[in-house]
Amino acid sequence: MSEFANLLFEKQEGIGLVTINRPKALNALNQATLEELDKLADLIAKDTDIKVVILTGSGEKAFVAGADITEMQHKTAIEGRNFGKLGQAVFNKIENLPQPVIAAVNGFALGGGCELAMSCDIRIASDRAKFGQPEVTLGITPGFAGTQRLARLVGKGRSKELLYTGDVIDANEAYRIGLVNKVAAADELMTVARAMAEKIMSRAPIAVQLCKAAVNEGLDTDLETGVAYEAEVFGLCFATADQKEGMSAFVEKRKASFQGK
Ligand code: CAA
Repeated sequence: MSEFANLLFEKQEGIGLVTINRPKALNALNQATLEELDKLADLIAKDTDIKVVILTGSGEKAFVAGADITEMQHKTAIEGRNFGKLGQAVFNKIENLPQPVIAAVNGFALGGGCELAMSCDIRIASDRAKFGQPEVTLGITPGFAGTQRLARLVGKGRSKELLYTGDVIDANEAYRIGLVNKVAAADELMTVARAMAEKIMSRAPIAVQLCKAAVNEGLDTDLETGVAYEAEVFGLCFATADQKEGMSAFVEKRKASFQGK
């Protein structure tokens, strides 16, 4: 799709591959790129051919090196707040896409880049990737929900250490603290991401979507409300052909073939 100046987008057999493409600025997120991501997320949400999304950065060096510092440099307080709200809204949209989203983190994921990766469902890191929230080195806090998603992913103590020090950590440390799901050799990153996408696509699509919704809804509420939501989506599964197929296949000792119905 050529309508985007700062994004590449292609569809490959059920996978929607989104590449942030501003290599001269290490794929930093400026206003225009965020607006394009917003538009693309709307298109992906409506596209039933896309079963899983993979999000990555162009070039070998960076996934996304943060929000665009040159663009932020002279912002007023109101402009800063509005820019933060735009990034937060776009990342919320990505987090709540109906399709699972895998971040294939190919290099620096700093500031807004780490925040973007955290808005994805699953993070696979190249062994060359680096993560951090270095905003305090620039005189600001994270603005695209880093203070919230980092704490939810790695816990209060570890997130506060990363936020207060601005330390940049490597992929293995990110894996150790639970910030990423997997680390892959740099030249195998996309193969590993695609393999995970294919595995997810082989499962019952409605059940996968409902798992995503249940985790997201549940983490925004208390346990009692979360489990009540789970009971509803669990029940809903029994109205699908895929539940009949999945359980018949188990009983008949054959591989299930799901239709997403
Ligand atoms: N914004 C704008 N431009 C950026 C950028 C960013 N976040 N990160 C890198 N660039 C640009 C550089 O200015 C440079 O441009 P020129 O060639 O025109 O000078 C180009 O990308 C290459 O970068 P470097 O020469 O710095 O490359 P390096 O290999 O020496 O260093 C790096 C790589 C460590 C990632 C370094 O670029 C860096 O520290 N970048 C900034 C990281 C950062 O602080 N991110 C947080 C931003 S604030 C934020 O994201 C707020 C929020 O939560 C919303």
